[in-house]
Amino acid sequence: MSDATDAGAGPVPAPAGAPAPGPMVRAERVHKSFGLVEVLRGIDLEVRNGEVFCLVGPSGSGKSTFLRCINHLEKINAGRLWVDGRLVGYRQKGDKLYEMREREVAQQRRDIGMVFQRFNLFPHMTALENVMEAPVQVKGKSRREARESAERLLERVGLADRMRNYPAQLSGGQQQRVAIARALAMEPKLMLFDEPTSALDPELVGEVLDVMRQLAEDGMTMIVVTHEMGFAREVGDSLVFMDAGVVVEAGSPREVLTNPRHERTRAFLSKVL
Ligand SMILES: Nc1ncnc2c1ncn2[C@@H]1O[C@H](COP(=O)(O)OP(=O)(O)O)[C@@H](O)[C@H]1O
Ligand SMILES: [Mg+2]
Repeated sequence: MSDATDAGAGPVPAPAGAPAPGPMVRAERVHKSFGLVEVLRGIDLEVRNGEVFCLVGPSGSGKSTFLRCINHLEKINAGRLWVDGRLVGYRQKGDKLYEMREREVAQQRRDIGMVFQRFNLFPHMTALENVMEAPVQVKGKSRREARESAERLLERVGLADRMRNYPAQLSGGQQQRVAIARALAMEPKLMLFDEPTSALDPELVGEVLDVMRQLAEDGMTMIVVTHEMGFAREVGDSLVFMDAGVVVEAGSPREVLTNPRHERTRAFLSKVL
């Protein structure tokens, strides 16, 4: 097992400002343990620019942990992880790696939007204020500029008439759409969705998936952890089935869902389809 701090052969980081020609996310032998428990046991995968990448698997297989590693909310123990051609959490100088300072990590994290199962909106702020908050506080945008773009984003997720409402006055589906607009307000180049519809009443799932479908059509690169196989099949470009910290099977959603090659994939799909 290689150590995350020794540099190996990998893609050359893209020069600042230039669009990276390579994949949006690349994982090589990514390992992550909590204490003695190895939760990710050598994940290899690639997410291309502009693709919808669906991640499915049983509870406890390491899906959320993997998303949190991409966002550097968790530090990997071994392997390599790149986002847009840049190592997550490390700077490369020559053939040496240096751990980034918290400031640099935060900077890197800004380019990645994350939407969770629970919406985590600020309860004391209106929908509009929730979406304006980070651009003003983190990006230093003027309130006027932030308000204008927040209004556009809330229109885009179908909430033009709900901007002045507080989270408690919104349905779960509406709150989740505010959460998506809030993530988009930071102009991310990658969006991570961690079971965004799992906490919703069934009749509210569709409106959130519709917003995600629109986002995909607009070209956003997205990693989506979901049990919504219909969405994966229709909107997904790739699908990975994970179990017990490894990638068991990967391919086009249609391929994997209709013709799973592994018994573990079949067993899982028989429960969710
Ligand atoms: N911070 C943590 N400390 C200890 N164990 C954790 C932590 N986060 C996750 N785990 C464990 O890692 C395993 C994978 O969890 P998770 O990534 O949440 O799986 P999934 O999202 O696929 O359900 C689980 O066994 C979980 O209990
Ligand atoms: Mg999870």
